[in-house]
Amino acid sequence: MHTCIVYSSRTGNTRAVGNYLAGRLGLPIFSVENAPADCDRLILGFWTWRGGPDAAMRAFMETLRQKSVFFFGTMAAFPDSDHAARCALRVESILESGDCRVLGHFFCQGKLDPRVQAKSTHPRTPERMARLAEAARHPNAQDFSLAEEAVRRAFSLDISREPEKTASVFWKISA
Ligand SMILES: Cc1cc2nc3c(=O)[nH]c(=O)nc-3n(C[C@H](O)[C@H](O)[C@H](O)COP(=O)(O)O)c2cc1C
Repeated sequence: MHTCIVYSSRTGNTRAVGNYLAGRLGLPIFSVENAPADCDRLILGFWTWRGGPDAAMRAFMETLRQKSVFFFGTMAAFPDSDHAARCALRVESILESGDCRVLGHFFCQGKLDPRVQAKSTHPRTPERMARLAEAARHPNAQDFSLAEEAVRRAFSLDISREPEKTASVFWKISA
């Protein structure tokens, strides 16, 4: 099984998580504009836009048919928020429309572009300002490790379901 990482990133947060995973797991990585067609297992990374995957990644997800997919997203919201949970459901629904199998997902915060923040018309509540201050510290080393752990866990569960098909990838990503 051929596994690739494909990401979409506007300001670099999502790319940083993708690059970390590529290095740790020994996998090829592509920006969504250059995504190859021959990957049957994908790790997809997006930046969150309006509570879902950004438009470029969403359009790519909509082209996928019968792939195995792990996805990750960076966002200004907290990864354990309802906002993140709804985002995951949206992504799962897009992927399942293409008969893709979702292996798992991971979210972490990612700093909001200061120019976007300056222009934002959202009320500057203390809660929102604290959330954005925390987002400004992400993605960090802990996010990178947690992302790796989530992928490894999802892939090893996948392997235990289909050992004959995926054993070679297991050795590759464990190396
Ligand atoms: C136009 C715009 C819309 C955004 N919408 C959301 C959103 O709906 N929910 C959220 O949690 N974060 C949102 N964000 C924050 C980004 O998803 C977050 O900062 C992300 O880490 C950016 O990733 P990147 O550096 O890979 O582009 C938005 C950012 C921008 C610029």
